[in-house]
Amino acid sequence: MKKYALVLAAGKGTRMRTELPKCAFPILGKPMIEYIVENLERSQIDEIVTIVGHKKEVLMDILGERVAYAVQTEQLGTGHAALSAAPILGDKEGITFILPGDMPLMEYPIMDKIIRAHEEMGNDLTIVTMMMEYPKGYGRIVRDEYGTVTSIVEENDCTESQKDIKEVNSSVYVVNNQALYESLKKITKNERKGEYYLTDIVAIMHQSYKVNTFIVRNPLITMGINDLYNISIAEKHLRDMINKTHMLNGVSIVNPETVTIGHNVIIEEGVWVYPNTSIIGNSIIKKGAKIGPNSEVNNSVIDEEAEIRHSLVIDSTVGKKTTVGPFAHLRNHAVIGDHNRIGNFVEVKNSTTGYDTKAAHLSYIGDATVGERVNFGCGSITVNYDGVKKHKTSIGNDVFIGCNVNMVAPLNIADNVFIAAGSTVTKDIPKGSLAIARHQQINKDDYYRHLIKPKDEK
Ligand code: UD1
Ligand code: CA
Repeated sequence: MKKYALVLAAGKGTRMRTELPKCAFPILGKPMIEYIVENLERSQIDEIVTIVGHKKEVLMDILGERVAYAVQTEQLGTGHAALSAAPILGDKEGITFILPGDMPLMEYPIMDKIIRAHEEMGNDLTIVTMMMEYPKGYGRIVRDEYGTVTSIVEENDCTESQKDIKEVNSSVYVVNNQALYESLKKITKNERKGEYYLTDIVAIMHQSYKVNTFIVRNPLITMGINDLYNISIAEKHLRDMINKTHMLNGVSIVNPETVTIGHNVIIEEGVWVYPNTSIIGNSIIKKGAKIGPNSEVNNSVIDEEAEIRHSLVIDSTVGKKTTVGPFAHLRNHAVIGDHNRIGNFVEVKNSTTGYDTKAAHLSYIGDATVGERVNFGCGSITVNYDGVKKHKTSIGNDVFIGCNVNMVAPLNIADNVFIAAGSTVTKDIPKGSLAIARHQQINKDDYYRHLIKPKDEK
C-alpha cells in the first residue's frame, strides 16, 4: 500500500510575531520545516505533499524539489488545508500520514512506529495523542463510556468538564486516504473561529470507520511550536541531543547548557569546548583543539591542538597548534598557518600566513600573503584600502615588522626584511634590507623650560 505524508505548513503563525512564516523559522540554523521533511525522507513514506500558503515562496525556496506542493490560498483552517491537497491525493488509494510543519522534534523511528501501529491495529484513523498535565490550548480527545474516541474538541469549544480531559490531540494522524477525503467533504465551518477543523473528521469517521489512538509517552516529541518561547524549548532539546552525541564521541564540553553546536559540525575526539561558545556552519574541529570560552567558530576548520579563546573565527582556517585570541577576529578566508599566534585585538581578513608567524597585539592584516616566521609588532597594520579599492600586500619569510608600522598596499616586502618601528612603508622593500620610513628625531637642547615654566615664574 502506498504511503503519503501530508505536511500542513500554510498557516501564518500569528503567535510567533515574526516576519518569517512559522514553518520557515530556524532552529539551530535549520528551518523548522526541514526537520520534518528530513525525517519523512528517512521514514517509510513514499511521497511527501506539503501544503503551503502564507508566504509560500519562502517555504518552497527552502524545500525545492524535495516535496510536492499543494497551495491553500486562504488560511481557513487545518481541515481546509488538508482538502487543498485533493488535486494530488483526493483519489489515491493508500494511507496518509498527516502532520503539522511545526513539529521539529518528531524523528523518523517514531514516525515509522506510528505507521506500523496503524497497520497492525487495522485502523482507518489513528490519532496520535499525548497526556498533558496542563492541556490548555490543545484539542481534547473525547471518548464515550466504552473508551471509544468520538470526537476532538478544540479548547475554545470545550465544556468545563471537557477542559479537564488530559489526553490531547498532537495534530499527527494516520488515515486511510479515501476515507479522509470522503470525510473532509463533510466538515463544516466552525462558526466561532470561522475555520474548517481537520479534527472534525474524527466525529464523522468514528460512525463508520475504525478510529483509534496512539499515545506518545514523551510530549516533547509531539510538541507543536506556536511561539518563540516554544522555539527556545525545542532548541534546548536539540542542543542537548547534539552535545550529548559529541560528548559520547569523546569531546569534552564544559557547561554544555551554554554551548551551541550546529547540525553539520564535525568534531574529532580529544577536543575541549569551553562555556559560552558556538560552533556552527560547516565547521570541522580536529583532535586536541580547544575552543572557547566565549568564542564563535562559523564555517571554519580548526586544526589539531589549536586554541581559540574569546574570539570569532568565520569562514576561515586555523593551523595546527596555533593560538587565537583573546579578542581576535578571523574572517573572509583567513588561512592561518601552523604554530602561529594571533593575539589580542588582531583582525585577519582574506589573508594567508605561513608557519610560525605571529601577530600578538593590535594588528590588522587584510588582503595579504604572509610568509613564515614573520613577526608583526604591536599595532602594525596593512593599509589595504585607499577609499576606492582594496590592494594586496605580500610579505616574505623571516620579516620583522616593528611596532606601529603602516604597510601601504599594493606592496611587496621580500624575505629577511626588518622594518623600523613607526614606519609608514609605501615602497617595496628588497631582500635583506632594513627599512626606515619616518622622520628623524631632533633633540633641542635646553628647551624644556620654554615649554613648561617653573611654578615661581608664573
Ligand atoms: C492544532 C489542532 C489541535 C491540536 C494542536 C496540536 C486543529 C483544529 N487543531 O491546533 O487539536 O491539539 O494542533 O499542536 O487542527 N495550517 C495550515 N492552514 C491553515 C491553518 C493551519 O496549513 O489554514 C497549518 C499550520 O501551518 C500549522 C498546522 O497547520 O503547521 C497547525 O496549525 P495551528 O494553527 O498551529 O493549530 P493549533 O491551533 O495549534
Ligand atoms: Ca500548533
